[in-house]
Amino acid sequence: MKGAREIGSEDTIHRGPPVTVSRYGPAKRVNHWITAFSLILLALSGLALFHPTLFFLTGLFGGGQNTRMLHPWFGVVLFISFYILFFQLWKANLFIRDDFRWFTNFNDVIGGHEERLPEMGKYNPGQKLIFWAMALLIVALIVSGLMIWDQYFYTYTAIETKRIAVLTHAVAAVLIVCAFIIHVYAAFWTRGTIRAMTRGSVTGGWAWRHHRRWLRELAGHGRIDSAE
Ligand code: HEM
Repeated sequence: MKGAREIGSEDTIHRGPPVTVSRYGPAKRVNHWITAFSLILLALSGLALFHPTLFFLTGLFGGGQNTRMLHPWFGVVLFISFYILFFQLWKANLFIRDDFRWFTNFNDVIGGHEERLPEMGKYNPGQKLIFWAMALLIVALIVSGLMIWDQYFYTYTAIETKRIAVLTHAVAAVLIVCAFIIHVYAAFWTRGTIRAMTRGSVTGGWAWRHHRRWLRELAGHGRIDSAE
């Protein structure tokens, strides 16, 4: 069946009432919040090192030296936690043909006319785009970050290479902060989404309205449970 790859191991419809649908188990949620928290720490510590006017942010981390020491370690945590999520979710984030219509009818997405759009699987194309952008940017950040982590890796790259790495690192950091803002804004804007990452489930109405193909696939595969 076309969408079987979009069904996560915990995804289950609970009859209720009210009907709810499990979307993420506890391990995925805890890991997601580690990812989120480490990106926030990275942005704050990175900005502190980025420009003298933002140096005051080092106060959050116990001064300049501590900030410089901690920042790359936050990056290692982000990389590991994100890539655990990545390997659990990448298949559900592959683009399909219908996604093209979602992009070309973006006015209907913004206007809330989902009835005019194709039925969505577990993720809509906007979520998928952010997913792949984050995956690429995190690789760019870790690779360029290791090249300029002079405390451990100074001798591995030439000064000219380090200069390119510093620039790449800064550009990728700005882009991932933009992706982060879009991700968080969309999560709040689409009412009822946040509980997917707090309680692990969404309402049946939310799933019917925003991810109907996913809901149909769960029902079609018999992923229905009688208790909440
Ligand atoms: C305070 C910050 C954040 C909030 C409030 C937040 C909120 C959410 C919510 C509600 C979902 C569930 C969406 C759904 O199932 O439809 C989600 C999914 C996800 N989030 Fe976050 N998030 C935050 C930060 C981050 C960061 C920093 C990253 C990565 C760098 C990230 C990566 C993901 C991924 C990969 C998913 C799974 C959706 C997908 O595969 O497209 N999140 N987030």
